[in-house]
Amino acid sequence: MRGSRILGLGFHVPPRVVTNDDLSKLMETSDEWIVQRTGIKERRWVDGDVGASELAEHATKKALADARVDAKQIDLIVFATLSPDVNFPGSGCLLGARLGLPGVPALDVRNQCTGFLYGLAVADQFVRSGAMQHVLVVGAEVHSTGIDISTRGRDVAVLFGDGAGAAVVGPSEDEHRILDTKLHADGSHYDILMVEAPASRRNPRLTHEMLDEGRHFPSMDGKAVFKQAVERLPEVIGEVLAPHGLGIADVDLVVPHQANLRINEMVAKRLGLGPDRVFNNIDRYGNTTAASIPIALCEARERGMVRPGSRVVLAAFGAGLTWGATLLRW
Ligand SMILES: CC(C)(COP(=O)(O)OP(=O)(O)OC[C@H]1O[C@@H](n2cnc3c(N)ncnc32)[C@H](O)[C@@H]1OP(=O)(O)O)[C@@H](O)C(=O)NCCC(=O)NCCS
Repeated sequence: MRGSRILGLGFHVPPRVVTNDDLSKLMETSDEWIVQRTGIKERRWVDGDVGASELAEHATKKALADARVDAKQIDLIVFATLSPDVNFPGSGCLLGARLGLPGVPALDVRNQCTGFLYGLAVADQFVRSGAMQHVLVVGAEVHSTGIDISTRGRDVAVLFGDGAGAAVVGPSEDEHRILDTKLHADGSHYDILMVEAPASRRNPRLTHEMLDEGRHFPSMDGKAVFKQAVERLPEVIGEVLAPHGLGIADVDLVVPHQANLRINEMVAKRLGLGPDRVFNNIDRYGNTTAASIPIALCEARERGMVRPGSRVVLAAFGAGLTWGATLLRW
């Protein structure tokens, strides 16, 4: 039966490195606090006016070259981001224009840290059904222009970085394919991590008062997010493996979303996974939300941790709440 697989990967991060010491000049924080609580040492921030679609374009070109697929062969663009270039239209449309693909459909996915896995599931369904041959799935974020870079916003500001990762998904006729995906959402906790304004439920959507209160910046109940993440991630990893008669011992590598090293360490401990079977790169990029999994997967493959035949689980948890896992055989 026809399936789908990732034919090529690519990622791009802006060249500007922002260390924890750089941040401690902008707000009351310290390298020690950030490393101890999150594992993050540095992140990348864009310089000047650079939107998510620009980062995505660079990542896409690398993924297309890796897949040996021409841009003209893309049947659908799926663009996962919480930081679109403009409020509307979606960044998928802007990326299509950058790639010179007029008429190619573009779908923006608004599922935050789980966005890439939702996008991959869409691609898998279109390719598996035979409706499409090549679907581009991109996760790209520019956080640095949307966070409160001051002591007031330090709990969130130190976590996030800019970047993009892309995958070209195409058909597979053998066992090297996306084997399964489990996706979840629970909006009853939507407000533990969100950006409220501009808000269609407020009239007007944005006021000077809202700006003064910083309601256009992300707000987060970090402890609540942490608690949910360490429950949901092991749960959904088990859920994606069980129907295939597989356990965690059968998995070569888990590539989790990079939200916080402590979350991933706790998840690994709960699952009984040693550090050689969990890939982390949050120390260098921070949390790049929808981009974190494709960036991590790309680096893991470059380091030889993902090889033909490897059983890999991608797992994400984030705002929404949304969470999910993808099981694939490379
Ligand atoms: C954000 C997070 C690192 C905070 O760690 P924590 O141990 O829960 O810290 P707290 O929020 O309890 O804050 C402890 C203290 O540090 C302070 N603090 C917060 N951010 C700080 C920073 N960047 N630098 C220095 N101090 C900071 C707080 O003000 C608080 O001070 P107080 O004790 O005087 O009130 C942690 O909750 C976390 O990682 N949560 C998950 C976040 C996440 O993954 N988000 C993305 C999901 S996709």
